[in-house]
Parts: sequence; structure tokens; C-alpha cells
Amino acid sequence: MRIIHLKNEEETAKFGLDLGMSLQKGDIVALIGDLGTGKTALTKAVARGMGITETITSPTFTIVQEYTSGRLPLYHFDVYRIQDPEDMYELGYEEYFFGEGVCVIEWADLIEELLPEEAKVIRLEYGAGESERIYQCTF
Ligand SMILES: Nc1ncnc2c1ncn2[C@@H]1O[C@H](COP(=O)(O)OP(=O)(O)OP(=O)(O)O)[C@@H](O)[C@H]1O
Ligand SMILES: [Mg+2]
Repeated sequence: MRIIHLKNEEETAKFGLDLGMSLQKGDIVALIGDLGTGKTALTKAVARGMGITETITSPTFTIVQEYTSGRLPLYHFDVYRIQDPEDMYELGYEEYFFGEGVCVIEWADLIEELLPEEAKVIRLEYGAGESERIYQCTF
């Protein structure tokens, strides 16, 4: 377990960029943290690190969004609105989890039982002040 302090958005962006550059096919990054802790902000930086040029959005009704302009496909999940892990089967999540790209999952705690053991888990918490965040990473 690694604990990382991000003092501001720039540090989050740098962390995400480095992570994005290091990710490999089949990697799953599970983001667990309250509203506004920066799961989407981190995903945007990871995407940039993967060489993705498309704009990463925070979709309201789409559980998964695919981006294919980088060195690997990125499957960006936001499972906030998942009622039941059953919904994940309906969406064919295994094709993404065990596919050709990288998965980043916001609100991954809601589907914890589906996460492979080797998933890279990041717990995001608020730190001191407006812009500090503290990450607990399993990798
Ligand atoms: N160090 C930081 N890292 C990331 N975001 C930060 C930081 N400091 C401040 N912020 C702000 O926190 C907010 C994070 O919003 P973001 O949408 O990324 O959160 P989220 O965890 O995805 O929320 P949601 O649960 O609604 O999906 C942004 O407004 C961003 O500007
Ligand atoms: Mg978000």
C-alpha cells in the first residue's frame, strides 16, 4: 500500500500522466472516492498519458465510454448509477475487463465483487484545504 499526497490539480495531473504512460493492455484501474475527490480529473490525466486526444467527458447515462485515439483503447466506466452488478453483465463488462485495452472505473466500490484481484485500486480522499487529495494505492 502506497500513500500519495497530491497538493493541487497540477500534481494530480502529473500523477495521472505518469500512470497513463505506464499502463498496459488488460490493466484495470479502480477508483474509489467520494463526489469531487477527482476521479474524472485523474481519468483525464491518465488518458493524456495514454496519448488519447479525444475529450474525456463525465457521461450522465452511459456507464462506459470508449476512447481509441491513444496507444491503447481506454474504457472509461462510471458505475455510479449501477443498481446491481447484474447490470454489468448486461453491458458485457467482461469484453472490456479482459479485452485489448485499459479500464478505468469510477465508483469501483459499487462493483467490488467483479474486480479482478490484480486490479490497481486507488482510494481517493480529501486532504487539507481545497485542493489537496490523498491516494491510497495498492500498486
Ligand atoms: N488535487 C486535485 N486533484 C483533482 N481535482 C482537484 C484537486 N484539487 C481540486 N480539484 C477539483 O476537484 C474537482 C474534482 O472533480 P471530478 O469531477 O474530477 O471528481 P469526481 O471524483 O469524478 O466526482 P464524481 O463523483 O461526481 O464523478 C474538480 O472541480 C477539480 O477542479
Ligand atoms: Mg467523475
